[in-house]
Amino acid sequence: MSNLFHKTGTDNYPNQIILCESVDAIPDGVLSDAEKSFVADQLGEKKSTVHLNRLTGQVFVYQVSADSRAYMNKEKARIAAAQVCNSLNGLGVEEVAIYGSVDAYLRLAFAEGVGMTNYQFLKYFSDQDKRKNSLKSIAIDGVEDNDIVELNAVVWANGLARTFVNEPLSYLTAEQYAHDIMDLGDDLGFKVEVFNKAKIQSMKMGGLLAVNMGSPNPPTFSTMEWKPENAVNAEPYILVGKGVVYDTGGLSLKPTPNSMDYMKSDMGGSAAVVGTICALTKAKLPIWVIGLVPATENRPDGNAYAPGDVIHMHNGMTVEVLNTDAEGRMILADALSYARKFNPKLVIDLATLTGAAARAIGDQAMISMGNADQTYQDELIQSGYETYERVVQFPFWDEYADQMKSHIADIKNIGGPEAGMITAGKFLEYFTKDDDGNSAYPYIHLDIAGPAYNHTNKNYRGIEGTGVGVRMLFDFFKRTVEKG
Ligand code: BES
Ligand code: MN
Ligand code: ZN
Repeated sequence: MSNLFHKTGTDNYPNQIILCESVDAIPDGVLSDAEKSFVADQLGEKKSTVHLNRLTGQVFVYQVSADSRAYMNKEKARIAAAQVCNSLNGLGVEEVAIYGSVDAYLRLAFAEGVGMTNYQFLKYFSDQDKRKNSLKSIAIDGVEDNDIVELNAVVWANGLARTFVNEPLSYLTAEQYAHDIMDLGDDLGFKVEVFNKAKIQSMKMGGLLAVNMGSPNPPTFSTMEWKPENAVNAEPYILVGKGVVYDTGGLSLKPTPNSMDYMKSDMGGSAAVVGTICALTKAKLPIWVIGLVPATENRPDGNAYAPGDVIHMHNGMTVEVLNTDAEGRMILADALSYARKFNPKLVIDLATLTGAAARAIGDQAMISMGNADQTYQDELIQSGYETYERVVQFPFWDEYADQMKSHIADIKNIGGPEAGMITAGKFLEYFTKDDDGNSAYPYIHLDIAGPAYNHTNKNYRGIEGTGVGVRMLFDFFKRTVEKG
């Protein structure tokens, strides 16, 4: 597929976006005197974008915001870009060029906003050709070749993650998901290994098998690996993603009205993992990263796992299931203990794990917690601001783990009524330990239940699947590479 972003060439682009700090900063010859005075008149407190409808093409002038926080100026540019993208498509424009004597990162952020807004999920419309956006090419002035490579990688991968979330169960079963991941590995050049049900049984991944019992479709466990020769790290970073392709709650059927309507999105964590591995591969970032995706539906059935059941997990622990709707932690637990064999430098999991996380902070951020060095957590928070996929750190104190004690098994799969996002994280932490109960690797858990899915259209982020996590993690790995 052809790339969306390019560097500007020598040809003249009739459709332009001009970024400026003020009208006076726009170089002579870009606008006519009449246009310049019109723009000066329009730009002000209320308006940051002015549209000039020329005979020869469309021109948008955007006055960048002058916040002392650079990341805020980037975010304002992305949001302004959403409007401009919609206008361009409304006008049938196919190609636009972004200019302006502002810092390059602002032109890139604006381009990113246009590119993300231009995402569409049209697969199930019978008149998709008519609905297709006209915009096909975004040229950016004054940026490096590598900026373009990375922007193409990350915006495309974000769209890929959104598409996986948007796909309903009627297409995206666990097996289909594994197939699609294999195809991506073949196309882009990362390694993929898929465990089928028989292999998952032989691996004794009891958590994944238990959640799958009520489903007519078998589970899968996919491993992706991007390991370039020039990787900066000697031990891999591991990303683990919750791949519940549909969550009914199982026998503990979802109690919240209408909440099942969007539970195709319960694999959003794994979509972020797949998207990140794809982006790293596309941009050829010199970093060794492994992705693990346990995938299944969670459904009620005569054979489904039941409240009260005791499950033997991959690491040998036993779990008393007191709510079958706390299924994400059951499948992630097996992936986390499986991760030990890679001797990882750091393990990060992403999961639409708890309603508690979404209730606590809404869709404005993902919640992080963990026992990894605070430097790692601070870096994720920083990448969260840079990409505006924000990260808020919650406590991870051991006292929260007390709630998981069971009368008949090693632990149970639910805590008390409070701090549900943290007790879920503490449950997962058990499976990051070695056989002596010591931490096997540094661990960070990201609960993305809030920001993974938009119920209404939200500027450049769009509606339904957001692909949240891909841009943040790509930024995190890029900074890791830059640090050497
Ligand atoms: N997938 C849900 C969490 C969720 C809720 C994600 C809303 C996105 C939006 C998860 O499997 C779940 O059902 N969690 C339960 C856990 C509880 C039973 C301990 C929850 O949060 O209610
Ligand atoms: Mn659930
Ligand atoms: Zn779930």
